[in-house]
Amino acid sequence: MTFTHDIVIVGAGGAGLMAALYAREGGADVAVVSKLHPLRSHTGAAQGGIGAALGNEEEDSWLWHAFDTVKGSDYLGDQDAIETMCKDAPRTIRELEHYGVPFSRNKAGKISQRRFGGHTRGFGEAPVRRACHAADRTGHTILHTLYDQCTSKNVRFYDEYQVLDLLMNEDGTCSGVVSYEILTGEVHTFHAKIVCFATGGYGRAFKTTSNAHAGTGDGMSIALRAGIPLEDMEFVQFHPTGLYRLGILITEGARGEGGILRNSDGERFMERYAPTVKDLAPRDLVSQCIYKEIREGRGINGKDYVHLDMTHVGTEVLEKKLPEITTFSRTYLGVDPVKQPIPISPTCHYAMGGIPTNADGQVERAERGTTVPGLYAIGECACVSVHGANRLGTNSLLDLVVFGRRAGIHMAESIQQDKKKAPLPDNPEKKTREMLDEVLSRTGGESCVSVRSALQESMMKNVSVFRNEETLTEALSDLRELRKRARTVTVRDKGKRFNTELLDAVEISFMVDYAEAIAAGAQHRKESRGAHSREDYVDRDDDNWLKHNLFHSDGEGNFEFTYKQVKLGRFEPKLRVY
Ligand code: FUM
Repeated sequence: MTFTHDIVIVGAGGAGLMAALYAREGGADVAVVSKLHPLRSHTGAAQGGIGAALGNEEEDSWLWHAFDTVKGSDYLGDQDAIETMCKDAPRTIRELEHYGVPFSRNKAGKISQRRFGGHTRGFGEAPVRRACHAADRTGHTILHTLYDQCTSKNVRFYDEYQVLDLLMNEDGTCSGVVSYEILTGEVHTFHAKIVCFATGGYGRAFKTTSNAHAGTGDGMSIALRAGIPLEDMEFVQFHPTGLYRLGILITEGARGEGGILRNSDGERFMERYAPTVKDLAPRDLVSQCIYKEIREGRGINGKDYVHLDMTHVGTEVLEKKLPEITTFSRTYLGVDPVKQPIPISPTCHYAMGGIPTNADGQVERAERGTTVPGLYAIGECACVSVHGANRLGTNSLLDLVVFGRRAGIHMAESIQQDKKKAPLPDNPEKKTREMLDEVLSRTGGESCVSVRSALQESMMKNVSVFRNEETLTEALSDLRELRKRARTVTVRDKGKRFNTELLDAVEISFMVDYAEAIAAGAQHRKESRGAHSREDYVDRDDDNWLKHNLFHSDGEGNFEFTYKQVKLGRFEPKLRVY
């Protein structure tokens, strides 16, 4: 079947819903196609807050926010886009509040704000309260509110439709997508004037992750297969505080509310590494420090974790401001944070890189200005780039809503100007149908689980917080093998209804594609910057690497890199000290 809409947005998290809302308000006929029910999107797992210099608790300014974001990015973020985001943040929060997001309140009745890693006042003087939050369920409340707004404005939702292909015409224009309806197993075409990817991140490529099972990077790999490069994929964020062994997120807001990281000696070790901001240093630094403590033998009981101590914070803060993580710790580890420190270790959390775009969400093929007609990307699958080499906590929800809104407005305006749809290519579903038939016809191969586990183990061992030439060579060699193994994955369920085993088999081949982009990017970039910490190139090298990497691939293990200049601005690159 062919569905026709002005705009088809793929993915129903915060970015997709914000774009849908604005495009709809701009008069467009908008469809949101999502492999999940929208309310199961991963935005719902964002806990601690959304950043904006409201100054509700103490003096703040968007310029300080911009400075922190540029410094946090290790100067790889594009400063024009960063300024756009930080300037627009206070307006965005007020707008979310008017939509109905139930932000927590301070004693004066204003939106409550708390501290988060890397957010400071006075250009690095001291931590500042900038994270607006709804207890520690901020993403959950934003997601529900935006979904409510979208349904009331008659955005059309196609829930549990997995997009598998992007339709690109010979002249380089995008004309739609092909999707698989999970309920029926039918393949459908969506014909649109504009396609916007808001497909989220890829954390599931790593063994330990805070990401939902759906975080399999599909959008990035589909774009790559359609000839779009991926930008700065080597920058993978490990959040410092995942529940030990499980990777479940324990919000940075816990440290914002006074939580302290301690090693086996009970020492507050972050005082040694970041004397000004201590436990509220940015994530790249804190995760690296936790691993240093563990490597030097100061993990708890000689193991690979440290403690997050909240015992001095008090029951009221834990129960009222941090109820989610308090429950998680009790439920999953049997540890009561009121009385005991929480065992934590870094967990793969966020993709700084992704599909290259400008600040209106238009996908760019190469240098700035080389936009792909009819194709947009927003949110975690995109790289604007406001996060550069390391994202600050709270800037992910902000990125979703600021750039989701901008893309929604831009898409609605551009379809007013150009009323025609690009024609569909001949037989648009052929490639997808053949691919699905081929997977279903396999016999005697491996299960998806064993290939996926091997990929996750290799990425965790070789491409996580610390990397070097040897580990990256091993990862790339593993991935070459895994590409072959992924092509043999055999599904036992040959049926059509809810065949999630079939989709797992398709997803594993997407995972190999973008995992290769991560490992190859990390091998290519011969410096340490932000979350990319190379043991064999320990310094940042602005002379050679103050640039964005663009990874191009033929999907057969052959790849190359081109480059894009970083947009510098008022903040000159300096050594990062906290
Ligand atoms: O720590 C957290 O609550 C996560 C926030 C974020 O990734 O921005």
